[in-house]
Amino acid sequence: MKGSIIAFGGKGGVGKTTTAAMVLRRLIATGVKPILAVDADPNATLALTLGIEGSDTIADLRERMGEAAQSPSEISKTRLMDQWLAELLSEHTGFDLITMGRPEGPKCYCYVNGLLRRYLSLLRNNYACVLVDCEAGMEYLSRLVIDDVEALILVAEPTPIGLTTVQRMSELADSLDLNVKRRILAINKVGLPGVPASDAVKAPEIDGIDQVVQVPFDTDLAGRCARGEPVDEQAGDSAAGPIADIAALALGLQAPSA
Ligand SMILES: Nc1ncnc2c1ncn2[C@@H]1O[C@H](COP(=O)(O)OP(=O)(O)OP(=O)(O)O)[C@@H](O)[C@H]1O
Ligand SMILES: [Mg+2]
Repeated sequence: MKGSIIAFGGKGGVGKTTTAAMVLRRLIATGVKPILAVDADPNATLALTLGIEGSDTIADLRERMGEAAQSPSEISKTRLMDQWLAELLSEHTGFDLITMGRPEGPKCYCYVNGLLRRYLSLLRNNYACVLVDCEAGMEYLSRLVIDDVEALILVAEPTPIGLTTVQRMSELADSLDLNVKRRILAINKVGLPGVPASDAVKAPEIDGIDQVVQVPFDTDLAGRCARGEPVDEQAGDSAAGPIADIAALALGLQAPSA
C-alpha cells in the first residue's frame, strides 16, 4: 500500500476536490497517514477546500529556475530544484500538500508536469498514500503524472450527461494503456434537489468501472462551499458512509457496503 496513488478525475464542478478532501480526512481518521495531497489542477482549490494556507506552487519554480540559470552557483541545478521542491511542501496534521499551480503555456505544462513526476517518484514511498486532485476534463488522463495508479476515482453527477462523460473517460483510459489497478465511479450529489435519478443512472453499466458508490447530495457540504467554509472533520455527515467506502475501495481494503 505504501505510496499508493489515488487520483480524482471528472467533469468540471462535479465534486472532485470535495470528494478528495473528504477521502483525505477519512483516511487520516482511520490511521492511514501520513498522506501526500497533490493539487494537480491549475485552478488550485484543494488548500482552500481543506481550510489551510496555500503555498508557492511548482509552476512558480520555473521562474526561479530561469533566474538561477543566469547566476553561477556551487550547487547543481538539480539539487537546487529538489531543495526548492521540498520547500513547497506544506505540512499539516496527518498530511502534506503540494500544489502544481498554473503553468503558462504548453511547454511550461510539460516542464511542470515533469517536475511533479520526478518529485512524486522521489517522495511517494515516504507516504502511506498519495491523493491527486486532477484538473477537470479528460486531458489530465494523458498527462497523468504517474503511470501506476492504485485507484482512479471518477466523480460524476447523477445525470445521463455525467455518466456519458465517465464512459468516455473510461474508454480514454483504456486507449492510453494507463496502469490503473481500480476504477471507481463516485456518483456524487445523488438526490440533488430537482434532479430525480433514473434507474439507469443509479446502476449504470460502464465498461472498465470496477465499483460504483453513490454519494448523496449533502446540504452541509454545499453550504460550506457557498459560505467559504472548509471541508473539515465534521463536514458532510450524510456523505460520510459512502466516502468511507470510496476510501476503503480505493486502497482495496473492503467491498462496498450494501
Ligand atoms: N456530495 C455533495 N453534496 C453537496 N454538494 C456537493 C457535494 N460534492 C460537491 N458539492 C459541491 O459542488 C460544488 C463543486 O465541488 P468541487 O469544487 O469539489 O468540484 P470540482 O469537481 O473539484 O470542481 P472543478 O472542476 O472546478 O475543480 C461545490 O459547491 C461543492 O460544495
Ligand atoms: Mg476541483
